Amino acid sequence: MILGVDYYPEHWDEARWPVDAQLMQEAGISVVRLAEFAWSKLEPREGDYQFAWLDRALGVLGERAIQAVLGTPTAAPPAWLIEKHPQVLPVDEWRRPLGFGARLHRCLANPTFRHYSRAITAAMAQHYAAHPSVLGWQTDNELTGNRCYCDVCAARFREWLERKYGSLDALNRAWGTPFWSQEYTAWTQVPLPWQTTCGPMAHNPSLLLDYRRFASDITVEFQHEQVEILREHCPEHFVTHNFMGLHDAINYYDLARDLDFVSWDNYPGGSAALPHDVMRGIQGENFWVMEEKCGHAGWNTMGPIPRPGQVRAWAWQAVGHGADAVVFFRWRSCRSGTEQFWQGILNHDAVPGRRYREIAQLGREFRQFAPDLEGTSPENDVALLYSYDQIWALQIQPQVPGFSLGLWLERYHQALHRLGVGADVVSTEADLSPYKLVIAPPLYLLDDALAARLDRYVAEGGHLVASARTGVKDGNNCAREETLPGPLARTLGIAVEDYDAIGQGGTNVVALADGARFKVSLWCDLLRLEGAKQVARYMRDFYEGVPAISVHNHGKGRAWYVGTVPEERFFRHFLRGIVEGLRLRMVPDLPKGVEVAARQGDRGRILVVTNLTPHKQVVHLQDACEDLFARAIVTEAIELHPFGVRLLRTTR
Ligand code: GAL
Ligand code: ZN
Repeated sequence: MILGVDYYPEHWDEARWPVDAQLMQEAGISVVRLAEFAWSKLEPREGDYQFAWLDRALGVLGERAIQAVLGTPTAAPPAWLIEKHPQVLPVDEWRRPLGFGARLHRCLANPTFRHYSRAITAAMAQHYAAHPSVLGWQTDNELTGNRCYCDVCAARFREWLERKYGSLDALNRAWGTPFWSQEYTAWTQVPLPWQTTCGPMAHNPSLLLDYRRFASDITVEFQHEQVEILREHCPEHFVTHNFMGLHDAINYYDLARDLDFVSWDNYPGGSAALPHDVMRGIQGENFWVMEEKCGHAGWNTMGPIPRPGQVRAWAWQAVGHGADAVVFFRWRSCRSGTEQFWQGILNHDAVPGRRYREIAQLGREFRQFAPDLEGTSPENDVALLYSYDQIWALQIQPQVPGFSLGLWLERYHQALHRLGVGADVVSTEADLSPYKLVIAPPLYLLDDALAARLDRYVAEGGHLVASARTGVKDGNNCAREETLPGPLARTLGIAVEDYDAIGQGGTNVVALADGARFKVSLWCDLLRLEGAKQVARYMRDFYEGVPAISVHNHGKGRAWYVGTVPEERFFRHFLRGIVEGLRLRMVPDLPKGVEVAARQGDRGRILVVTNLTPHKQVVHLQDACEDLFARAIVTEAIELHPFGVRLLRTTR
């Protein structure tokens, strides 16, 4: 278990560094992330590399046994570079170039920018390859899809399309370009989705989806160049990147393929449980939190300060979901620049206060329980499917305002969480055989291969929940021709005869066989049962009595279909029935805001119970557990203080 902090020695007088290092050590901090925005200090003039200051900082930290992750500083290109090569600036969708003055002012496809990125990466990698304090690297900072609209990007997009489709004929067929006379006769005719076209919102959805895939691939390619250099010079170091949880403008599965592990930046608004699970699922491995909130957020205005115990609870929540390191952002609130009011562990005055003491407590706890947590990781029976293609296609055409993959995912995930059922969030491409239950939010783009894999999963004894708007499109974002749910119709034993996009203002009610009733909104599929049984039927409108939700025994398994968007309560009711039927482990009836996450190891499971509310809470356990903080056996009910945490070991 690693406790760390993001540190910016270049913002402070050198005389302060030893004091900072001592305070860090005393708090149990053993890792700092450094330099990810320090390009102008590392290369103040072209080719003039200045590492002496960073060497001295590493030396001061090293004396306190603090090691470092170094960031490649490419998210903030220096002014001299932009002045010399203004063509590296990104261009927006109205074809206006952006300017210098903030950060991220670079097009990741630009060959000149690539040259400078490789050069600074190589210089740093060579200099730090053998440094005893350097553990590894963070590429750039919070990479996102390179949604740039410059001429380089236009040329690269056309190349990308040519590689993908092989010929213009194939592209015209895949995109269905006879619509509005869009047939291309030369690659140079293909536009980027500029807003300057007639009817800026009306681009071909097939082009829009391919553009998003392309913009993601460009970023992956950009990072790959840095990773290759780091691997060549620093074979002993790890390479990671700080992801952004539910951020979805880049395909994180692709970005992670080059990395040793995933890290992410956690600034909890609501519960961070879902983003933690998404992040763990990217590689199916434990991860780091590279930036964890330790004070209030604030650039020009400030948010509320974390309550006593809240930072500690967030950190333990992260550990429960699979974090092996928690690195706080940032050590001290900075004196200058945009983020002056973003709170560090220390305020501007650098006097250690409440939040410092709380983090020091965490430092002691991490050290104490490291042996118990070592080698453990979450293992779950339930998987939720995730896919950037699906997210993008539904962003391009949301069906009705408010309908998104995220909406479904959150409802399913939150319901499982309230039942104390852990879930992995995995790619639609992942191996599903380890899971007893697979929950699929809308598989709006459904190709035959994915449908066949899901069918086999169910036929061989798996349990699948499928959602409305499944099977609508092919991989090119054109509508499929079969009756919905398209290639999953046989698996689900239904036909969607028609549908009603009732939208956010529309409501209907569904009734279950057990008498329970739930409001629904946004979308109503009208089902015809073809082998499946009715789970719920509509209560209103011309389709009163028509099935809305179904279940089908298929082969050795079972498949449900939820053809409408019920209120939150429904999901807990519905999934509880399924989870009980499958006899999966659960801690039912958890109070809202209390979470149980589990890490499995050779010596049993460690439950991390976090109370993320400012109130006392009571949790009813199903088995006797060993309370690791209290060193006592607990049975039945346990009480949690406001923002309280318990670590429980169970052998079941
Ligand atoms: C993160 C970013 C940091 C810092 C922080 C607070 O997203 O990686 O560099 O900007 O937000 O604004
Ligand atoms: Zn560009």
